[in-house]
Amino acid sequence: MSFPKNFLWGGATAANQCEGAWNEDGRGPALTDVTTGGTVNKPRYITYIDKDGNPGFKKKHDKLPEGAHYAVLEDQYYPNHKGIDQYHRYKEDIALFAEMGFKTYRMSISWSRLFPKGIEEEPNQAGVEHYRDVFKELKKYNIEPLVTIWHFDTPLYLEEEYGGWNNRKLIDFYVRFAETCFKEYKGLVRYWLTFNEINNSMPQPTRDGSIPEWRYQEGIQQLHYQFVASAKAVQIGHAVDPENMIGCMICGICYYPATCDPEDIMWNRHMWETKIFYCSDVQCRGKYPTYAKRIWDTYHVKDLDITDEDLEELKKGTVDMYTFSYYMSQNVTTHTGVEVVGGNMSTGTKNPYLQYSDWGWSTDPSGLQYYLEMIYDRYEKPVMVVENGLGAYDKVEEDGSIHDPFRIDYYREHIKAMDRAIENGVDLIGYTTWGCIDVVSAGTGEIRKRYGFIYVDVDDEGNGTMNRMRKDSFFWYQKLIAANGNTENL
Ligand code: BG6
Repeated sequence: MSFPKNFLWGGATAANQCEGAWNEDGRGPALTDVTTGGTVNKPRYITYIDKDGNPGFKKKHDKLPEGAHYAVLEDQYYPNHKGIDQYHRYKEDIALFAEMGFKTYRMSISWSRLFPKGIEEEPNQAGVEHYRDVFKELKKYNIEPLVTIWHFDTPLYLEEEYGGWNNRKLIDFYVRFAETCFKEYKGLVRYWLTFNEINNSMPQPTRDGSIPEWRYQEGIQQLHYQFVASAKAVQIGHAVDPENMIGCMICGICYYPATCDPEDIMWNRHMWETKIFYCSDVQCRGKYPTYAKRIWDTYHVKDLDITDEDLEELKKGTVDMYTFSYYMSQNVTTHTGVEVVGGNMSTGTKNPYLQYSDWGWSTDPSGLQYYLEMIYDRYEKPVMVVENGLGAYDKVEEDGSIHDPFRIDYYREHIKAMDRAIENGVDLIGYTTWGCIDVVSAGTGEIRKRYGFIYVDVDDEGNGTMNRMRKDSFFWYQKLIAANGNTENL
């Protein structure tokens, strides 16, 4: 048994996927509030009114047409508006987390609840007090909050008027938001993450040139501004309270070469550098890695706005811990004519040794061990797995029970993999499962893609009582935490 005594067991959510109350108590809209629901085969759309007053729909990476404004369209349903109503039901949810024995709860603060447009000098007091109440409620049960400052929810006003993270000015707006969080919640929150899955702004390279070069140009510039914003926030966080532990957060995919063709081995190595190491090398080591030049040259990225002062900030603002989400591995290859599979913000080729979920995501616990050992060896900083889980359909039986043995199996195997990594020397300090209570899926906007130990009675059209129900996995995780991760009899 290798999990340390004070290991942080818990679960994770994000404000925009669970809070609802999208326009209450002074909150401003975020991009998710103009994003429709989708399915595994149908993308989510972002809605707008064009310059002639006609409604329009665009995909995530398409540009907003000239003169158009983001808009909520009357005949569309927006799942994030209601979420799972956690804004009003947080006490009930926290009591359930406590019943499972959570030591930590990872959540995020909605930027536009504190700064409705993002540009205000002073925060919206109702928003500030809401989170203070949530943190106090967690403390009541000795649950340590783990707070993501930015989880995919830049205020819509900043997206529209400033072009979002394409604009250097976002650094200062973000820093004001982060500083407010550190100061307001000093003594209540100790664990912080600056940007969720920051590496998602970097496109996953493809061999066929299907990703236009402007996406690398924009993504890499946006990342630079986020790195600087993160580094400044880390310094402020430490100045406000030296006890603060502040981490980066990476979308962790374990990439494998699909064949032993040396070309594939090299492509795989470059995939790790481009998609996985690029961001954390900067955030953990305080400087751009040597291979950054190769990436910029390959995709003809030029005239980046990177100043000497920025580089100084990066040096001074390295993070205290490495955190990441882990759902799957992906096989990558230089060969054509292979079966392509999707996944969390990634694609790959089908791995014949793995099982795939109903949403086409592979299940690979060994990949988690591989990733943990690789990362710890690289940075030697404390590590947390802050997302891991299986999105699946759940069925409520007539007596109200919900049997989810597939989810229990998934968790058991991933927890065993973490155990092995700790045994091999990794300083793993926490584990928060994704969507510990069912939430709106970020990728598809569905609620039926359920991850939770707790079922929420709401469907993809927003019908339902919002009542919470314990799944079988709820009782399993409760025992697992009580046994501090010992899966022997579980
Ligand atoms: C991560 C995100 O990408 O994966 C979460 O940080 C997201 O916000 C999670 O919900 C699972 O993805 P999905 O698309 O199944 O919700």
